[in-house]
Amino acid sequence: MIKKCLFPVAGYGTRFLPATKSMPKEMLPVVNKPLVQYGVEESLEAGLTEIGFVTGRGKRAIEDHFDVSYELEHQIAGTDKEAYLTSIREVMAQCTFSFTRQREMRGLGDAILNGRRLVGDEPFAVVLSDDLCVKDGEMDGVLKQMVGLFKQFRCSIVAIQEVPDDQIHKFGVIGGEQIKQGIYQVNHMVEKPKKEDAPSNLAIIGRYILTPDIFEILENTPPGKNGEIQLTDALLTQAKSGCVIGYKFKGKRFDCGSVDGFVDATSYVYKNLYSQK
Ligand code: UTP
Repeated sequence: MIKKCLFPVAGYGTRFLPATKSMPKEMLPVVNKPLVQYGVEESLEAGLTEIGFVTGRGKRAIEDHFDVSYELEHQIAGTDKEAYLTSIREVMAQCTFSFTRQREMRGLGDAILNGRRLVGDEPFAVVLSDDLCVKDGEMDGVLKQMVGLFKQFRCSIVAIQEVPDDQIHKFGVIGGEQIKQGIYQVNHMVEKPKKEDAPSNLAIIGRYILTPDIFEILENTPPGKNGEIQLTDALLTQAKSGCVIGYKFKGKRFDCGSVDGFVDATSYVYKNLYSQK
């Protein structure tokens, strides 16, 4: 039903300079795997195998990562080292990859609008791969949980998480009515509010399912906070005219766009999930 997953990866990653001066933030490795590969694996687990990237200048390494590296493959063919390529080979065998470019960094909403031709007229998922989401035990991944919920509600869904007051200004924040345990019908949203202006402490994290009418709405959404086209503003329009669900996902999330979150993620993955592959 949902087959496509869009990865906006055009951002500059300024919080990680100088590491991200010539290397995409999404290629930063958490232990031995780049962030973007974790995102694609989560998408694959949810059954979304058509992967679209909205890239920008200096992001070629992402394209190369999901392509064959002939010299390398030739060099290590038949040796013990071949096992290190298992995880990326599995992803490459099961997914297709398409790329488009965002020419100017005009915000997440604009990046998603740039992905319109890759998505077409169908519901799709969005993953911000600097938000690393990992499973709690045997639980499904976050995107798989959201795909399950979409079958029930058939409208846009945003993953949400409770955050402490002093963190609220970093997120899009929802207001809404809880219709089931952990499931909210959204009626308000603010991008990066001051604590006193926030409708709740429920922050949107980098996992979305969007219905395709979002493109039309984004086209008509003026620049908002920081002069960028904000997905949050478009989602609020969608919530007012139809339905947007906020879903308190089960699992752990690390903000790998920040140094602290990245270090926490690295230590968690090394202790709990690291495999030699
Ligand atoms: P962020 O604000 O977290 O990413 O955007 P950033 O701009 O790369 O990071 P900092 O703040 O400068 O350190 C969230 C996601 O949206 C993408 C980013 O690549 C990231 O995955 N994005 C953001 C775009 O693709 N285009 C944009 O114009 C803005």
